Amino acid sequence: MKHFLPKFVKSIHFKMEVLKSKAELEKYIQEVKKNGKTIGFAPTMGALHRGHISLYEAARKNNDIVISSIFVNPTQFNNPDDLQKYPRTVERDLKMLEESGLVDAVYVPSVEDMYPNGAESKHYEFDGLETEMEGKSRPGHFDGVGTVVEELFRQVQPDDAYFGEKDFQQLAIIKKLVEKLELPIKIHGAPIYREENGLAMSSRNERLTPEQREAARLIHDTLVKVNDWFRIITIPEINQRVKDIFEDAEGFVLEYFTIADESTLKETDFFYKDKSFRAFIVVFAGEVRLIDNMHLD
Ligand code: PAF
Repeated sequence: MKHFLPKFVKSIHFKMEVLKSKAELEKYIQEVKKNGKTIGFAPTMGALHRGHISLYEAARKNNDIVISSIFVNPTQFNNPDDLQKYPRTVERDLKMLEESGLVDAVYVPSVEDMYPNGAESKHYEFDGLETEMEGKSRPGHFDGVGTVVEELFRQVQPDDAYFGEKDFQQLAIIKKLVEKLELPIKIHGAPIYREENGLAMSSRNERLTPEQREAARLIHDTLVKVNDWFRIITIPEINQRVKDIFEDAEGFVLEYFTIADESTLKETDFFYKDKSFRAFIVVFAGEVRLIDNMHLD
């Protein structure tokens, strides 16, 4: 069975349990459930950073047992090159989780554990949430996310699950998934964790050069400006200003910028008093696709 967990990891002694197969997870979950303990779960694709740790902090507060998973899910990458280049740092991730002292067990399944019949996505309807923004830019992405998250939920059986707001659309879709499948899981969103210069923490930041990483502050700086402009100038004017900023920024290409209703994720050109809005942005820094968003006051 192909497995991306390096062999030497087995020789390290973890207080935290490392569950390396579905069978090991099942045994662990059975024990937890038998003892009537609640499970808080935060799935990841590894290359962990401080933002992930904040998910375990939240889980630690609410749940008896905190479980993480590390699985680079092939079905959510519409671009094979992106899948291939996705950082895989399992040894470092396990060390970070162990040192955090927040996590009881980490599930590191193989592709076969997650996709016994081959790595294929199911198809989901998320009431239109899936066709906005990332849904347009990355066809099939949310079917892949839905498929893997549903399977992880069925295997781990958490009471609560935690996701970062950096992928705000993903968070909304996972809430919808749980509602549609009537799974007894409460979904929690955790605020975006930022580097000192404001850049949203992301596993992809590791692929930036130090210069790109510094210059990428422009993304957050722009969102802060958008929030200042919000309700002072019109949304089409804001959209134009953002386009102009990135046209002038060497090394960056704006893929999209949208101000959308927080509940439907539909783009808006007008402010409505009784609705909440959020700005969403995707920018390429060289080859690296960076995503960010901000609630607008
Ligand atoms: O946000 C992520 O890291 C992934 O999309 C997730 C939720 C772990 C599913 O693979």
